Amino acid sequence: MAAWQRIAALFSLLRLGLLLLLLSPRSSGIPLDTCPGDRSCQPRKPPVVIIPGDLGNQLEAKLDKPSVVHYICYKKTDSFFTLWLNMELLVPVAIDCWVDNIRLIYNKTTHSSSSPPGVDIRVPGFGKTYSVEYLDPSKRSVGMYFFTIVQALVEWGYTRDNDIRAAPYDWRKAPNENKEYFLALQKLIEEMAENAGEPVVLIAHSMGNLYTLYFLNQQPQAWKDRYIKSFISLGPPWAGVAKTLRVIISGKRWSWCQWAWVASPTPFSFCSWREQNRSLPAFPGKVQNGIRNPFFFIFYLQLGFLVLCHGFFFSLPAGDNNHIPVISSLKIRFQQRSASTTSWLLPYAQFWPKDQVLVRTPTTNYTVLDYERLYSDINFKEGWLMRQDTMPLVADLTPPGVAVHCMYGSGVATEEAFHYSDKFPDEEPLLVHGDGDGTVNLRSAIQCRRWVGKQKQPVTLMELPGNEHVNMLLNYTTVAYIKSVLFSP
Ligand SMILES: *[C@@H]1O[C@H](CO)[C@@H](O)[C@H](O)[C@H]1NC(C)=O
Ligand SMILES: *[C@@H]1O[C@H](CO)[C@@H](O)[C@H](O)[C@H]1NC(C)=O
Repeated sequence: MAAWQRIAALFSLLRLGLLLLLLSPRSSGIPLDTCPGDRSCQPRKPPVVIIPGDLGNQLEAKLDKPSVVHYICYKKTDSFFTLWLNMELLVPVAIDCWVDNIRLIYNKTTHSSSSPPGVDIRVPGFGKTYSVEYLDPSKRSVGMYFFTIVQALVEWGYTRDNDIRAAPYDWRKAPNENKEYFLALQKLIEEMAENAGEPVVLIAHSMGNLYTLYFLNQQPQAWKDRYIKSFISLGPPWAGVAKTLRVIISGKRWSWCQWAWVASPTPFSFCSWREQNRSLPAFPGKVQNGIRNPFFFIFYLQLGFLVLCHGFFFSLPAGDNNHIPVISSLKIRFQQRSASTTSWLLPYAQFWPKDQVLVRTPTTNYTVLDYERLYSDINFKEGWLMRQDTMPLVADLTPPGVAVHCMYGSGVATEEAFHYSDKFPDEEPLLVHGDGDGTVNLRSAIQCRRWVGKQKQPVTLMELPGNEHVNMLLNYTTVAYIKSVLFSP
């Protein structure tokens, strides 16, 4: 979900995953239910389709660019390489190449966005599960996303890519720019339902819920009655996410040490290569990751940072960048702004108190009603066009017309408002926290309750106290609840 911020959450997971890997290589995470006897699992098994959130599936790129931003960037690649998630591309300097490949260019005439010239981006694995199970295709300790849930389903008798599949999409774009996706999703659901003789259960996370709601709002009721059993909604940002305001205004500032740390799995990939008996000279040409000679350059750089910075992470309070050189947040902000989904996710006026100051500067207070001025004041007028393009997509929260199970985390400090000094917007603001799952504000997640009684199908709300936005996917309660929904009559 919520744009760049989620990466931070993701990466803390990744780090944990790395530690677990080191401590107990065979640990498979949480205990999973298994069937007492195979027979009890056999009957009625609705097919499952997963709709991931923002940043929640892999993206691949192929390059043939007229120019590049830096010497080390590739201009041309022979084949597609993983652009997201690929840790090797997120280190200092290489990140410039990455930003220049993943950014979108907005056309004010057509109200649509496209990749820079010579960059071809595709979404791998539609109808399969791999691209949402692990965001990093090497699966090396990192980027685990839907794996726990998919693996649990497999243990209950499901088969990957057969009766459990995922519908990944280009999460940089809002539904108005992803029309073909919804046709493909419809076809996928019909095909799976007909093969199984059972309607489908949709499981969405984060922004995937808005995608799913948009999709269901477009379908006739008869189609939904026939093909959809229920919609399991995890961490839904129905009314937007306050954090995206900060993402758009000031970007996320990471220290060199933080970058080095998140990229630190690369040295470990060296070990896995050794285990596979690959010879060293193969390294420089290993893959075309969009940068020249990726391995040697990055490996030594990272090793250095790792050694230098390792200690900082345990001694510094979060967000304290004192004494650490800081990578320009402007580059990251530039990328974040270019995705129309970022503007799509700003808090919605219908559901937010209109007098609540979300952004405060010494001269101005901005509420949900002041976005046009805000975009103008941060010198990002295109953003206001993007907001207007995307705002009507699901703003009314029209009931989905299928059974809904709405699961959301609470009790985790979640950004709610931002106070800037006169350096606005190019600085980190003071944060005001409220209730939520660390990303999605509670106010936004619980909006599904407005559907109770507004549609004939049941709407169930389930609060997961203390559950963080991404961690909830690993939670035993979540997995057990999904099972109860799947195997209910
Ligand atoms: C925007 O799209 C229009 C119509 O396709 C095209 O003529 C125009 O050159 C585009 N503008 C930019 C800046 O690419
Ligand atoms: C790597 O090579 C060694 C010796 O040549 C061999 O014993 C080992 O089985 C090989 N490992 C793999 C994973 O092939």
